[in-house]
Amino acid sequence: MKLLVTGAAGMLGRDVMLAAGNAGHEVVGYGRVELDVADPAQLHRRLELERPDVVINCAAWTDVDGAETAEEAAFAINGRGAGNVAAAAAEVEARIVHVSTDYVFDGAKGAPYVESDQPAPLSAYGRTKLAGEEAVAAANKRHFIVRSAGLFGVGGRNFVGTMLQLAEDRSEVAVVRDQVGSPTYTWHLAYGIVRLIEGIEYGIHHMAAAGQCSWYEFAREIFEQAQVECRVLSITSEEFGAAAPRPAFSALASQREHAIRLPSWQDGLAGYLGQRQAEGSE
Ligand SMILES: NC(=O)c1ccc[n+]([C@@H]2O[C@H](COP(=O)([O-])OP(=O)(O)OC[C@H]3O[C@@H](n4cnc5c(N)ncnc54)[C@H](OP(=O)(O)O)[C@@H]3O)[C@@H](O)[C@H]2O)c1
Repeated sequence: MKLLVTGAAGMLGRDVMLAAGNAGHEVVGYGRVELDVADPAQLHRRLELERPDVVINCAAWTDVDGAETAEEAAFAINGRGAGNVAAAAAEVEARIVHVSTDYVFDGAKGAPYVESDQPAPLSAYGRTKLAGEEAVAAANKRHFIVRSAGLFGVGGRNFVGTMLQLAEDRSEVAVVRDQVGSPTYTWHLAYGIVRLIEGIEYGIHHMAAAGQCSWYEFAREIFEQAQVECRVLSITSEEFGAAAPRPAFSALASQREHAIRLPSWQDGLAGYLGQRQAEGSE
């Protein structure tokens, strides 16, 4: 198959490019400068030229706190932009994969969210991502909406990298204990997405690491696995004071019979740390 990846220079986009190539697909990728998802005419021209079978939209506004004061700008990319990509794909009869987030949920369920659960985003970012899901579904019948969570990978800034960097000049860090989720290694997710497009099970798919942890527990596991001496203090979200509210519990699970299940978050972390070491980012 021929795949076209938008947001190809981002953390997930890079791994999707590699995973798709490894699986034997022809893959072309465009970063923001070459292909802006907020520009429908540019998308139309590019897709007419490339004629992909599947478009994988990894482009997004991912600054969760920044979106609180720039919701319209975030919506232009995450909401309207996602719809533009799906519509341009439909015009060339390509299928669309759109990546979304656990932040479409409010976290009040108290158990892992499945595909049929009702979204109720707490933040501007979550609202724009939910709008994107709806725009994608409306614009292209052959859509896969893949909700994932807490991504980390070698292609971008992420929580694990931040913890390791902080530990270089601090002996302790304070991390929130009252937000629980399923942090996911982008390499695992990328492989899951490539497997997904080999089938035709359209609709929403929850695809995050198996298991769940708080950011506090995740930080402890990071230092343990990386064998770094750094004490982790636990604080509340209120004490941390981020601009955007986040769900207290947003682990994801799938109710699909043929769900693509990813390895655990601990395995994802081990894989990521190994990859960082191999690529010399330590
Ligand atoms: N990161 C997470 O924890 C997380 C969790 C759940 C779901 N997700 C979702 O996973 C997907 C991938 O996220 P990621 O972590 O890989 O984010 P990322 O590293 O920030 O990548 C997003 C990419 O999109 C590009 N982009 C921004 N605006 C664009 C535009 N108008 N046109 C084309 N490209 C544009 C960005 O380019 P610039 O850098 O130049 O702006 C960046 O390269 C997103 O849909 C995100 O919502 C992420």
